[in-house]
Amino acid sequence: MCGIIAYTGDERAAPILLEGLKRLEYRGYDSAGILTIDENSEFELKKDVGKVLEIDQKLNFLDLEGDSGLAHTRWATHGGVTRSNAHPHISNNGKIAAIHNGIVENYKELRSKLISEGFTFCSETDTEVVPNLVEYWIEKRGLDFLHAVLNTFQSLEGNFALVLIDRDSKMIVGAKNGSPLVLGVGKNKFFLASDIPAFLDRTKDVVYLYDGDTVILHPERRYEIIDYRTGKVVQRPIQSVSWDIEHAAKGEFDHFMLKEISEQVETIQKASAQDREVIEDITQRIRRARGVFLIGCGSSFHACLSASYLFSKLASFHINAVLASEFSAYEDFLKEDTLVIAVTQSGETIDVLDAIKTAKQKGCQVVSIVNVMGSSATQFADASIFLNAGPEVSVLSTKTYTAQLTVLTLLAYSLAGKYEEGQRELKYLWNIVYNITAASMRNRIKDLADRLSKVEHIFVLGRGPLYATALEAALKIKEVSYIHAEAFAGGELKHGPISLIGKGTPCIVFVSKDTERHIISNAMEVKSRGGYLIGIGPTPLDTFDFFIKVPESDELNPICQIIPIQILAYQLAVILGHDPDRPRNLAKSVTVR
Ligand code: G6P
Repeated sequence: MCGIIAYTGDERAAPILLEGLKRLEYRGYDSAGILTIDENSEFELKKDVGKVLEIDQKLNFLDLEGDSGLAHTRWATHGGVTRSNAHPHISNNGKIAAIHNGIVENYKELRSKLISEGFTFCSETDTEVVPNLVEYWIEKRGLDFLHAVLNTFQSLEGNFALVLIDRDSKMIVGAKNGSPLVLGVGKNKFFLASDIPAFLDRTKDVVYLYDGDTVILHPERRYEIIDYRTGKVVQRPIQSVSWDIEHAAKGEFDHFMLKEISEQVETIQKASAQDREVIEDITQRIRRARGVFLIGCGSSFHACLSASYLFSKLASFHINAVLASEFSAYEDFLKEDTLVIAVTQSGETIDVLDAIKTAKQKGCQVVSIVNVMGSSATQFADASIFLNAGPEVSVLSTKTYTAQLTVLTLLAYSLAGKYEEGQRELKYLWNIVYNITAASMRNRIKDLADRLSKVEHIFVLGRGPLYATALEAALKIKEVSYIHAEAFAGGELKHGPISLIGKGTPCIVFVSKDTERHIISNAMEVKSRGGYLIGIGPTPLDTFDFFIKVPESDELNPICQIIPIQILAYQLAVILGHDPDRPRNLAKSVTVR
């Protein structure tokens, strides 16, 4: 999704904005641009399609002069991937520039109104109406920049994070409504960005913004926050971020994805080190509720599905795992005593936020399980549990997926009245995860990746909670290697998918003590049709053509067994020449429907 960074301060803006753009690349994008104001109060703008590095090599962003500016990475929604659609966008009179993440839903109506006032447009984007509306309020209605911006924000429908800059006053104004925006406060310098890593090398002091918050960065280096809906001043605390830029840097690793896979030795432990009171509070909310929904998208949904098996088996508790994008179908079942648990690493996925809002309107309690502090999901929820996994930069969820499973496992143990046992079990996992992520394991999986890199299809089988693992494994493989991978519940194989199995068809099979008897007979069905079997589990079997040992961990199997496939997906991407951190067409946090 689009990434935003704005800066004003004592230093030259271009190097800071360029660095910020590089740190926002993980969000997924197809074009980028930087605009600054130079000492003659002129805008200097460079933007184009492509990667930040390529555009920089072509246009040299560092030529841009001035100590204030805006920068943007665009993930196309309205209008194709072209230079003219790239941000920043400038108003007709050349005085106001804007960057935007989200969608202005009523842009067609606003655009027609502006056209009837004589305005012209040079892009197909929804964003371009915004600086022109500001110009309209200034030029035609006599308002100053700030009030023109406030009027403009009030007339917009949809989700947005927007930042505008005015050439005359040099004032920067940014606001958030449903899309992420955070304020960074340094000594004589301020930042507005989609995410903290964009400016973390410059300041660790941040202000988490809420919907409606409008930050005014004055040229004389001070800021204030008002709510654009009411015009009233808002006080928000400055909070210090506990992690530093090294957490958001690749270090010795070639890619963030591999770094983040390797970090799971620590992140699973960090996710399990929750405040006992918080877990107890959520456990009570689950017990008191009449009807509990676990909702999420992508990998987060797979964590929900996995947990629904665990809640049932361990705590004899029925919980509905529902895709957040499908949640509206269940609206009629939502009552005041329903509990909705939203699982989302970013806390910004629009489908999840929509579901949360629906639940709140119906008077339900909402709990969020989130990695990003201050994110929208945490702002709407009645209570939150944080994953504490540190920033996840690679588009693919790896460490946050296992952190979600860890937190959900802890909740299931707590619900079963076995909190201490859950903590003990999770502690034992350290050794297993250490061995699975070790270099020797990576080398072994590389041999498998070499073979699989030549195939067109990979099938994945699992039963019970390991069916959810199979879905996640197939997602990891296809997201980053672009090889078609599909998961089936073992028992479903004979109801159709078996017709796809032929000589040499690779099939990954997740095995655990619990499911062994049945899944092995499914594996035999594949083998007898010439399939190539890859077993993941505690015991090697003769039927397996390739085996990856993952010691039996009972209820914790889903946390450990996915890791070899995360590594496999990574290796496949590298062998096939794809960028594992930025798979095509995908975005880290999906803020459009
Ligand atoms: C995107 C990401 C996935 C992620 C999903 C849900 O599609 O590419 O990796 O699982 O969004 O994201 P969330 O932040 O809500 O967990």
